Amino acid sequence: MSGNSASLVARLMSGSRCSIPVVVWSLVGCLVMLHLYSLLPHKGALSGELQIRPGRHFLELEEVEEENFQIPPPRGKRSPRAAKRRPKKSTTLIDEFLDESSQLRHLFFPDLKTAVDPANDMGNDSFYYYPGRIWLDTEGNPIQVHGGGILYDERSRMYYWYGEYKDGPTYQPHKKGAARVDIIGVGCYSSKDLWTWKNEGIVLAAEETNDTHDLHKSNVLERPKVIYNKNTRKYVMWMHIDDANYTKACIGVAVSDSPTGPFDYLYSKRPHGFDSRDMTIFKDDDGAAYLIYSSDDNTELHVGLLTEDYLDVTRSMRRVLIGQHREAPALFKHWGTYYMITSGCTGWAPNEAMAHAASSILGPWETMGNPCVGGNKIFRQTTFFAQGTFVLPLPGISGYFIFMADRWNPADLGDSRYVWLPLTVAGAADQPLEFEFGFPLWSRVSIYWHKKWRLPYRWSG
Ligand code: GAL
Repeated sequence: MSGNSASLVARLMSGSRCSIPVVVWSLVGCLVMLHLYSLLPHKGALSGELQIRPGRHFLELEEVEEENFQIPPPRGKRSPRAAKRRPKKSTTLIDEFLDESSQLRHLFFPDLKTAVDPANDMGNDSFYYYPGRIWLDTEGNPIQVHGGGILYDERSRMYYWYGEYKDGPTYQPHKKGAARVDIIGVGCYSSKDLWTWKNEGIVLAAEETNDTHDLHKSNVLERPKVIYNKNTRKYVMWMHIDDANYTKACIGVAVSDSPTGPFDYLYSKRPHGFDSRDMTIFKDDDGAAYLIYSSDDNTELHVGLLTEDYLDVTRSMRRVLIGQHREAPALFKHWGTYYMITSGCTGWAPNEAMAHAASSILGPWETMGNPCVGGNKIFRQTTFFAQGTFVLPLPGISGYFIFMADRWNPADLGDSRYVWLPLTVAGAADQPLEFEFGFPLWSRVSIYWHKKWRLPYRWSG
């Protein structure tokens, strides 16, 4: 050490002894300032939306809740000789989940007795979401909006939930094909509180007779999503249109003057000339809207800008997450950054979700890892035995969202359940990222498991 620096260190050391109170009070001052700042309402970085800092009630949503499932012992006796010849494969929770006769069935698919029934006084259970339980509408029927999404309609100040109406028989069209329910149509439900849902009927119905029509009941209509176009004053629906073997791989577009339909079906096509299966649409703060779809046999996603009337794609498209085999995209935005939750490609069987982030919606997109928190390892590896479909921002509550997923029941698809859980964007991402240059650019996306939970008291849409 040079003489100069040694004397500087000595001066600092000697100074530090007499200034300890100063340092302590400065620190206290800083903490008080930080706290006061955190209590002020903030403006969203780009959205201009008023951001309320969440209080104590929100912390409940981020509590880590564990699940302890015991896999039951194998049923039926096997002779010791048989057991020696072919030791029984140990069953996993996923096997149990997919096994209709599993003793654990009631844990994944609780029966009607436990249904969430907002039309009847549920006492202390009012406003609670119970992921996996049957959820009844205001007429007492199970809600039918699978693979769905929610539109908040500023004109009526209502939430509209659209999805696949699947209340029909499940069957296997071919030995190796996926289980299916014939197209019935797109269901729509309305709500003010995101808990009590009124059935608004089928807003886009199947075609019963003309078997050359895209919506003929023998085809596939999945993952419908609706956005509103302020300029044309139209509600525009995009959906996955396919044949029973999933070889058509198209998007379909429909339009309506009212959120409750009826929607007029316009056409189907392969966007940008590519195969398109699981998909979603996303409307940005500036009114530009995008189509996001799994393509090239589900090996990659494509993000494409829609035309101004939202009725078609433009030529602007980027291939993203190439080679990552992701589907079921659900996109959202927080403070100028785009986030997306996707699933793996295992049909109706659950698999691990991934969170992705990007500073431009057209990419590059980075994969941040599994967002699921709590439950147990298998819960986290299976997205809580569900597959994402939509992420709904809680208006005015910065960083808090509802993650909406489907717990598919391949034996009876109409009895598939909804898994709604709180999702937050906060803290640093836990995987080093390719484009971050040493800085954690993105925040961590977390989806918290809860057996039951509700939106914070006094929350209102
Ligand atoms: C899933 C997809 C669902 C449905 C299903 C059919 O991978 O996310 O929307 O298409 O496959 O097996």
